Amino acid sequence: MQNKSSTVVVLGTGGTIAGTAPSGAGDSSYVAAQLSVAELLAGVPELVAAAQGAEIDAEQVAQIDSKDMSWSVWARLLDRLKHHLSRPEVLGVVITHGTDTLEETAYFLHRVLQTTKPVVLTAAMRPATSTEADGPRHLCQSVQVVVEGGWAGVAVVLQSEVHDASTIRKMYPRALRAFASGDVGPLAVLENGVWCWRRALLAADPLVPWDEGTPWPWVEVLHSHAGARAEAVSSWCAAGVQGLVVVATGNGTVHHELETALRQAQAAGVVVWRCTRCPQGGLEPDSLGWSPASHLPPAQTRIALMLNLISK
Ligand code: SIN
Repeated sequence: MQNKSSTVVVLGTGGTIAGTAPSGAGDSSYVAAQLSVAELLAGVPELVAAAQGAEIDAEQVAQIDSKDMSWSVWARLLDRLKHHLSRPEVLGVVITHGTDTLEETAYFLHRVLQTTKPVVLTAAMRPATSTEADGPRHLCQSVQVVVEGGWAGVAVVLQSEVHDASTIRKMYPRALRAFASGDVGPLAVLENGVWCWRRALLAADPLVPWDEGTPWPWVEVLHSHAGARAEAVSSWCAAGVQGLVVVATGNGTVHHELETALRQAQAAGVVVWRCTRCPQGGLEPDSLGWSPASHLPPAQTRIALMLNLISK
């Protein structure tokens, strides 16, 4: 049982977890990011038990569908995280987020936030008004994982599982159990009300000093596929792109038309990284000189390249 002066902070950013549908309408006609984080928490009385005596503070950082995630929201989120995590009475922070770009925000925070406390991102696949609403359970589980502590860093809590920020992937567009960590699996699972930790968090990649004033490098993602064409590469280069992530076939191979264009881009000073189209496993060390071997999917590889360009 936590001391009454212990606090868990819940930062709201929107998403389906805060979504509502008109009464009588099906779940698919909901609108994301409608309820404030204070309204969300007020609708989940079970949070009192999950908090085990700790107070819960709420703050609205943004109110968006996460497809519209932006650098300015990330900057604000990071600023509020640093503020709350520095409060001695705060045990950790829960962030409510949309599922669509959750893995990008989780990976970004994992790479830029130095913390000795737990930070959990959570979300929902059904709106708050649904008879199948999964948000309330996810909120309770997230608060419980923060209150029980024993770990530090950035993780994701969904569907009775805790996942690393760098392995979590949205695998299904509609299923309730939409997320997984592939071959690596979850960090912890809830069994009979007890969190069973299977391993420690994966070691963090080097932290990158980033703040609101840091300009974001321009990095684009392109796919290698049958009949791939190279025009986009030359137009981006002419417009000043700084980095390109090529989503390669198999173990990192790239269509010859694209490969030629990407080599020219590289010779002109654009940094080229690769990741694979395959949903599981990582690339072998690079024979083309395009990126470190990586297990990251395209959206996270793009963030990794941006942070790499910032830290140069
Ligand atoms: C969003 O990502 O904000 C909308 C979709 C979702 O949360 O499932």
